[in-house]
Amino acid sequence: MLQYSDYHSRSHHFCTMTHLIAPSLLAADFGHLARDVQMVESSQADWHHIDVMDGLFVPNISYGMPVIAAIGRHANKPLDVHLMIQDPDRYISTFAELGASVLTVHEEACTHLHRTLASIREAGMKAGVALNPHTPLHAIQEVLGQLDLVCLMSVNPGFGGQKYIPETLNKVERLAAMRQEHSAQFLIEVDGGVGRSNAGSLVQAGADVLVAGSSVFKAQDPMAEVEWLKSVTG
Ligand code: DX5
Ligand code: ZN
Repeated sequence: MLQYSDYHSRSHHFCTMTHLIAPSLLAADFGHLARDVQMVESSQADWHHIDVMDGLFVPNISYGMPVIAAIGRHANKPLDVHLMIQDPDRYISTFAELGASVLTVHEEACTHLHRTLASIREAGMKAGVALNPHTPLHAIQEVLGQLDLVCLMSVNPGFGGQKYIPETLNKVERLAAMRQEHSAQFLIEVDGGVGRSNAGSLVQAGADVLVAGSSVFKAQDPMAEVEWLKSVTG
């Protein structure tokens, strides 16, 4: 069983042995960002998932440093920052200063992934790598020991509210087997189209962190939706 205790935020410690929920603020109402961050703080969610897009690696542009600084002023739970940007090395120290606990880069966006992951840890953050749906698991085979988190994209990144790609389930199972085979320690995160129809099976397959944007923020009762996602047992 994985230990979550070292995934501590600036003010909280994790001691749960269950899966984590990371609502994606991309689906929040940006006109009421403080309110929506506060909702996540008050809910059973574990992390704030923050999607950064550069209009180059992905077609869309989301938000940048001033907005993340504003989120940080209202957040005590860890910031799980997902960089969908080309050459993320340019901004590693900036995201450390912004208070990111986990910094996830895309394998497809890094020429020297080994160096990038080392730099993230050196900057005091947990190192994550995200894989697009088309990227095979063997792309990270040589860096397993450098990883604190592997994010399997269950949509093609760039937009919230897309349809979950069902083949992800088998990829989660294979990644969990790979982790065991190599005695690796990373958390498995799934991102994109996660909600009631797939959360249970993903957790059962080995997912440790569920990112949920639309399913939480577009729900009638977002706090209850987080509670439901947190309670699934697979
Ligand atoms: C997609 C982002 C996701 C997105 C998830 O590019 O990485 O984190 O916000 O949103 P939903 O849950 O709506 O697919
Ligand atoms: Zn994301």
